[in-house]
Amino acid sequence: MGALKQTGGKQLARIVFDEATLAARVRALGREIAAAYPDGDLLVLGLLKGSFIFLSDLVRRIERPLQVDFLGAASYESRQSSGSVRLVYDPETPLEGKHILLVEDIIETGNTINRLVKVLRERRPGSLNICALLHKHVAERLELEPAFVGFSAPREFLVGYGLDHAEDFRHLPYIASLS
Ligand code: IMP
Ligand code: MG
Repeated sequence: MGALKQTGGKQLARIVFDEATLAARVRALGREIAAAYPDGDLLVLGLLKGSFIFLSDLVRRIERPLQVDFLGAASYESRQSSGSVRLVYDPETPLEGKHILLVEDIIETGNTINRLVKVLRERRPGSLNICALLHKHVAERLELEPAFVGFSAPREFLVGYGLDHAEDFRHLPYIASLS
């Protein structure tokens, strides 16, 4: 972890998933995903910003034709659970009739997914699945269970490989816990 261990007074505790572990799992996920979509148009939708590194590694391991777009959602603190989500970046690619694979960095409460799934279903995709790099398994109810999960995550605050703490640490090539 060396020089990156401390950022703005914040300390990393330990490496939870190192680079080799991430690369091996991403490679396997790519194969799983390619096998799960034998035909049809596949649009991989990365949820900004946390998924950007995972998404870029993942799509290079999916050996079938696909397209990539992004989705940015504003997070609200305490809206009623049925509340709508505001898209701060709305995919330009039409979703109708396509296989949509929503790629998320981590599922914690499930609020993000539960809101986005409703929005995406209104666009009438041919199918909708979720791929999450990390799953904390604390969500009480998920609108849609992720079809592809990289790792079960410990119930700690994790940073790196796209995940941030107040925008710090996203660039780390591994995933670490914060002390
Ligand atoms: P959920 O809506 O509670 O499922 O949380 C999902 C979002 O919260 C993720 O897309 C992350 O941006 C953020 N998040 C949840 N847990 C962590 C963590 O351990 N580290 C960094 N971000 C997290
Ligand atoms: Mg975040």
